[in-house]
Amino acid sequence: MKVPLLDLKAQYATIKNDVLAAVSEVLESQQCIGGPKVAELEKNIAAISDCKYAVGASSGTDAILNSLMSLDIGHGDEVITTPFTFFATVGCISRTGAKPVFVDIDPKTYNINPDLIEQAVTEKTKAIMPVHLFGQMADMDPIMEIASKYNLAVIEDAAQSITSTYKGRKAGSIGTVGCFSFFPSKNLGGIGDGGMVVTNDEKLYNRLTIMRNHGQEPKYYHRYVGGNFRLDPIQAAALLVKLPHLDDWSQARRRNAAYYDEKFNDTVVETPYINPDCVSIYNQYVIRVPKRDQLVAYLKEKNIGCEIYYPRPMHLQECFRYLNYKQGDFPEAEKAAKEVLAIPVYPELTDEMKDYVVETILSFIGAVATLKI
Ligand SMILES: Cc1ncc(COP(=O)(O)O)c(C=O)c1O
Repeated sequence: MKVPLLDLKAQYATIKNDVLAAVSEVLESQQCIGGPKVAELEKNIAAISDCKYAVGASSGTDAILNSLMSLDIGHGDEVITTPFTFFATVGCISRTGAKPVFVDIDPKTYNINPDLIEQAVTEKTKAIMPVHLFGQMADMDPIMEIASKYNLAVIEDAAQSITSTYKGRKAGSIGTVGCFSFFPSKNLGGIGDGGMVVTNDEKLYNRLTIMRNHGQEPKYYHRYVGGNFRLDPIQAAALLVKLPHLDDWSQARRRNAAYYDEKFNDTVVETPYINPDCVSIYNQYVIRVPKRDQLVAYLKEKNIGCEIYYPRPMHLQECFRYLNYKQGDFPEAEKAAKEVLAIPVYPELTDEMKDYVVETILSFIGAVATLKI
C-alpha cells in the first residue's frame, strides 16, 4: 500500500468539472487581474472569518508582508514571534527592516508561549505575531491582553488555520489583522499561490487595499511604497469552487485525527494536544516519537508520506545569524524540531490507509522497544 502525505489528485477528482468551468469563465471574460471573482472570494472569506473586511493577496507570504507594511512596521521596530514556524512569518518581518524577536513555544501546542511574551516587550516593540500552527490557534486572550497593555498590533499568522476557532472566535478575527495562505496543501488550497488578509479595522483595510497595488491612489499617484500583492482571479475562481467544501474537509481531517488519537492511545506515540478552548482544522497531524529520524526512514521504506515541520527553528537559520541567537536559547522549539513528525491526515484517507499508517508506526515502535532498531 502507498499512503502519500497529501493527495491533491483525490480531491481534484471530486470537483474537477466545477474547477474547469470556473477557470474557463475567467478566461472567457479575460478579466485577468482583479474583478468579480476576487471580490466575491474576499466577501466570502471575510464572512467565514467573522471579519468585516478581506483583501486578497498573491500568497500567504504577501498577506503577511502587506499587513506589516500597512501597519508601518519597519526599521527600528521589533516584532515578537515564535521561532517554531514556517520561514515566511519571520522572513516578512526581516524584509520590512524590523527585527524579529523570538520567544519560546508551549511544548504541548507548539504555539507561542504567552507567559514569555511580556518580558520580550521593549520600547521598540510594535507588534506580536502569533502563528496558529498545524491548524490550532494560539492562546489569544493573554496575547491580546499584553498587546492592549503596550498598545501593540497583533498580526495573526493564520496561514494554516482558516476557520479554526479559539473560544468560539475565528482565526484572524481576534488580532488587528489575520493572514491566510491558499498554498495548495492548506485546508483551503488554490491551484497555485494565493492568500488573504482579514481585518475589522476600516482604515487598515483601506491601506491594505492601496498597498497591494503599489501604494497608488489614484492610479499612478503613489502615496506609499507598496507592492504587487494582488490575488490572481484564476485562483479566486478555483477557491470559490472549493470553499463550500471546506467545512466537510476539515471535519474529515478531525475524524482522521480522532481515529489516530484512539489507535495511538496508551502507546509511546505522543498525539497532538488540542487546547479545550480550540477547535483545530488539523492542517497537519503532528506526533512526537522516539527515534524520529529512523521512523522517517522506515515510513519511506513502507511508502508512507511524512514530513518534519520544522527541522530547524528560525533562530538557528543561517540567514538570521545577524540576530545573534544561539543554540539553547529556545529549548522547547529546539526539542520539538528534533521530535515532531507530520503523518497523513488529508480528508480522502481511507480506513485501510489509516490502519496501515498506524500498524507501520506501531511495528516500528515495537521494534525499537525490543532493540531491533
Ligand atoms: C505558518 C505559515 N506562514 C506563512 C506561510 C506562507 O504562505 P504562502 O506559502 O502562501 O506564501 C505559510 C505557508 O506556507 C505558513 O505555513
